[in-house]
Amino acid sequence: MQGDSDQLTLDPDLIKDLRDRLALARRVAVLSGAGISAESGVPTFRGSGGLWRSHRAVDLATPEAFKDNPKLVWEFYSYRREVLIKLAPNPAHIALAGLAGKLKDKDSLTIITQNVDGLHQRAGSKKLLELHGNIWRVRCTKCGVVTENHDVPIEILPFCRQQSRHGRCKGLLRPDIVWFGEMLPSGIFEQACNVAAEADIMFIIGTSGVVQPAASLAEYAKENGTYTVEINPEKTPISGVMDKSITARAAELLPLII
Ligand code: APR
Repeated sequence: MQGDSDQLTLDPDLIKDLRDRLALARRVAVLSGAGISAESGVPTFRGSGGLWRSHRAVDLATPEAFKDNPKLVWEFYSYRREVLIKLAPNPAHIALAGLAGKLKDKDSLTIITQNVDGLHQRAGSKKLLELHGNIWRVRCTKCGVVTENHDVPIEILPFCRQQSRHGRCKGLLRPDIVWFGEMLPSGIFEQACNVAAEADIMFIIGTSGVVQPAASLAEYAKENGTYTVEINPEKTPISGVMDKSITARAAELLPLII
């Protein structure tokens, strides 16, 4: 079915329809991408801000880049921490954080995010599936232990301080982020599929829909009877499949719906 493409002219019927659906929903899902953080000032990956010291972000977010030059990759992630620490959740993150408390069951909202910036958590959202990890966690390449680390800047290169009976681990730490070519944390995508299929309504917010497997969740939801609503100022490969594809900025529209 061809989805409706609604220019956001503050169509009251559209807003009312989405509010009514939320009021009746037993389960609500969100799939968010870099676009939901754009209005906080976080550069998207494929937009103009995706460059750092002439490197494309996507070229540094790889296991090969880390193996070849862990110092450069850590300098890149330390830079991103320095950018992020000055930014704040925007009205879109805040509206979603408030949505949970407005539903019949506050545990009925699950946010599946591709973002690693931690802004959903900072806005107060609790039930999150972080498909691509989180920039505020580090993982030891030797012992595998994952720990929270909010150092800004972070020491370059950071080493593991886990104690064991053999003494301190001292393994090289890496960002706990899923890089291109790497598998998602085990089980998380299956969980995301269940959330997408069991939801009554799913909002797909600020994602270009080009990176798999996350991008397949929107169509999977639709195939399983979930009412799918895309919110993006641009059209994407999934726009034509969604039940509603709304051309709008997340920080503009979400506060009106929720
Ligand atoms: N509101 C909603 N959407 C927006 C806004 C906004 N204010 N501003 C931009 N967008 C949209 C863009 O139109 C684009 O479709 O957000 C999308 C951002 O796309 P990408 O930069 O490709 O980000 P994303 O889809 O999250 O990338 C997926 O790819 O780089 C990897 O792992 C990384 O998680 C990332 C994944």
